[in-house]
Amino acid sequence: MPISIKNGSDIEKMRVVGGLTAEVLDMISPYVQPGITTNELDRMCHDYIVNVQKAVPAPLNYRGFPKSICTSVNHQVCHGIPSDKVLKNGDILNIDITVIKNGFHGDASRMFCLGKPSIRAQRLIDVAYECLWIGIREALPGVPLNNIGRAVQTYAESRNCSVVREYCGHGIGREFHEEPQVLHYRESDPGPTLLPGMTFTIEPMINAGRKEVKLLPDGWTVVTKDHHLSAQWEHTVLITEQGTEILTLGKGETPPI
Ligand code: MF3
Ligand code: CO
Ligand code: CO
Repeated sequence: MPISIKNGSDIEKMRVVGGLTAEVLDMISPYVQPGITTNELDRMCHDYIVNVQKAVPAPLNYRGFPKSICTSVNHQVCHGIPSDKVLKNGDILNIDITVIKNGFHGDASRMFCLGKPSIRAQRLIDVAYECLWIGIREALPGVPLNNIGRAVQTYAESRNCSVVREYCGHGIGREFHEEPQVLHYRESDPGPTLLPGMTFTIEPMINAGRKEVKLLPDGWTVVTKDHHLSAQWEHTVLITEQGTEILTLGKGETPPI
């Protein structure tokens, strides 16, 4: 499948669903406190998406995924499955939300700290956030896609962190995962030229230790091989004639650059 170019009415729907996606993260934020389980967070997000937003949580039953959101704790990199495990002081958590409304998808994730994070954890979360925005800054019309990956990897490594290779950002729209694959690392192939109307995610997974990951026997949860911490932030973006529009900005979230 070629990269889909969204028309005006598609873009309006992408804006709507992007806003809903951010709204779920805004809604759940105050509940992310020590003592809660990831299943409880899943249930609250599910009910909000279905009953309030009248929308669909895309992960539920996606290729057999059993829950409505992904929750990845500490050394879990991505695709963590909500469970009855209680979150405790010092944990770090990624919540990844994907919503479908009017036939279009929005996808975003953020990091949360349970109580007070360690200095190392906070530093990793900050580096991952900077990686997201450094990637977004490179997402401009007329430039090669892999400018994003090159900038993210260069920055992450300058901060002594590593970039996960096995999972990447992706085109998004009528499908959850469309072309192109948005790598967060440098490649000799510059990739396709970005054009107005393209919509895709940028979602670097940044490890405090080595870049290698492994898949747990549940078939979903990805963890760091060395069990060091991992952090990730994700936005869905639109390439415009002038530059970039972030479709999943949260309430009060302003681009740091
Ligand atoms: N939201 C994830 C992403 O950013 C994908 C989750 S797939 C699921 O691409 F099945 F685990 F939900
Ligand atoms: Co995504
Ligand atoms: Co996501």
